[in-house]
Amino acid sequence: MIRRFFEKIYHKIAASLRAQFILYILISMLAAAIAVEPFAYINQEKRYYYPSRDELEMELKKITPLIQQAPPRQIRFILDEKAEASGTKLRLISQKGTVLVRSANATEQQMNPAQILMKISQQNEEPSNVPQFREIYAIHPFYFHHQIHYLVISKETHGRLTTYWIGNPLLSVVVFFLVFIVVYLILTRRKLKQLQEVTAGISEIAKGNFRLRLKEQGKDEIAFLAAHVNEMARQLKANWEKERRMEQERTDLITSISHDLRTPLTSVIGYLKLIHDQSQLTPDEMKKYADIALSKSKNLKQMMDQLFEFTKITHDQFQPSFQLISLNELINQLLEGNHAMLALNEMDVERIICNDPLQAQADPFLLIRMFDNLIQNALKYGKKPGKFIIVTKQEDGYGVIKLSNTAGQVDRQIIGRLFQMFVTGDPSRSEKRSGIGLAIVKRIVDLHQGQIAAIQENGMMTFVIKLPITSSRSFTRR
Ligand SMILES: Nc1ncnc2c1ncn2[C@@H]1O[C@H](COP(=O)(O)OP(=O)(O)OP(=O)(O)O)[C@@H](O)[C@H]1O
Ligand SMILES: [Mg+2]
Repeated sequence: MIRRFFEKIYHKIAASLRAQFILYILISMLAAAIAVEPFAYINQEKRYYYPSRDELEMELKKITPLIQQAPPRQIRFILDEKAEASGTKLRLISQKGTVLVRSANATEQQMNPAQILMKISQQNEEPSNVPQFREIYAIHPFYFHHQIHYLVISKETHGRLTTYWIGNPLLSVVVFFLVFIVVYLILTRRKLKQLQEVTAGISEIAKGNFRLRLKEQGKDEIAFLAAHVNEMARQLKANWEKERRMEQERTDLITSISHDLRTPLTSVIGYLKLIHDQSQLTPDEMKKYADIALSKSKNLKQMMDQLFEFTKITHDQFQPSFQLISLNELINQLLEGNHAMLALNEMDVERIICNDPLQAQADPFLLIRMFDNLIQNALKYGKKPGKFIIVTKQEDGYGVIKLSNTAGQVDRQIIGRLFQMFVTGDPSRSEKRSGIGLAIVKRIVDLHQGQIAAIQENGMMTFVIKLPITSSRSFTRR
């Protein structure tokens, strides 16, 4: 119970910088107070104390009732006894000042009450630094046998000696503050160092050293700050790397584009120049060269279209217009549209479409663009005669679409990079291959929060696409 209480307090303090500094102040004050203690006893002081009139009067008040009740012969004994016990002299005097009875140590016969009062008013009862001889008086009036009488007491004394130890206040204050400051500095040094490390770390990160990581010690605000700074550095590093990658990609893109555009353009210009300069060309030759220039220009146009498409959909601001569509319906329509082309290319089509319509929130134009690219690739790269198989099914909230065609072997390393820009299965990058189509496909899949993979097995090239759907039902073969 108590342990839990202290543990709770410990965690509270460990989590709060303010609490820690308050604790440091308290500890420093305690240390300063302990350190100052010996300085309270550096000087010794002697003082002599004297009885006061009040003290003596108290004595008189005690004796008075005894005298009032005692028979006259007894008074002398009472005075003697009390005088001896308290080391004083006692007298009983009449109103006129005649000493009626006195203790054995008193000698006066006559004492004027007024003079005694005067003496009392002047007598010094204050303590003194040097021993003095003083006689202190007190007087007390009272009724005795129906007349006013006085009881007079006096005490002769050299004073009661008392010794004190006293400190030097200035020295004590100086020692207190010195110890306080030193202890406080020692206690706060670690925290301050931690804070300096964080500050230095931040300025290092600001200079661009994103690899730097701060130590995350403790649980207080500094540790919190260090953790946040580390997180910030991590993000900055990631962003910086992303930026650099993008920069590299952009440079690669520009290099490839200029290369890919220049090659066909150079030959287009070459053929057109031939037609223009050579006047003795036969009409057949002219037509042949014009055909080549035209075909190359078409390739160029196609490539520019692809590039335009890619740039458009990779733009940050690009927003697909999603609507609820059936993936199966879309695929069926596309297959109908390409049926003739596939047949012409001696590609035997096999469809295995599931019963579930595979309803999905998707942009139909983007999906048509995507499947079109894939079907065009199958037509372009598929082995003829060969097979074109399309399978759809529903799996864990996804519509899975598999497109396969018989194909020649593509380098394993290239397969893994097919979805990158300008990657083609043929490293020589022949004129009809620009390597943009699958990059567009991948981007469209990403825009739909889907996944895509290229698999090469048993002489078939298969593209597996998974798109999130909103419906679910079992599938059957069609
Ligand atoms: N269905 C397929 N069968 C076999 N190989 C394929 C298939 N689809 C793509 N490939 C290989 O992947 C490469 C990249 O295809 P991608 O569509 O990205 O570019 P491309 O077809 O070369 O040019 P384009 O930008 O005009 O589409 C192709 O060059 C080809 O080697
Ligand atoms: Mg292509």
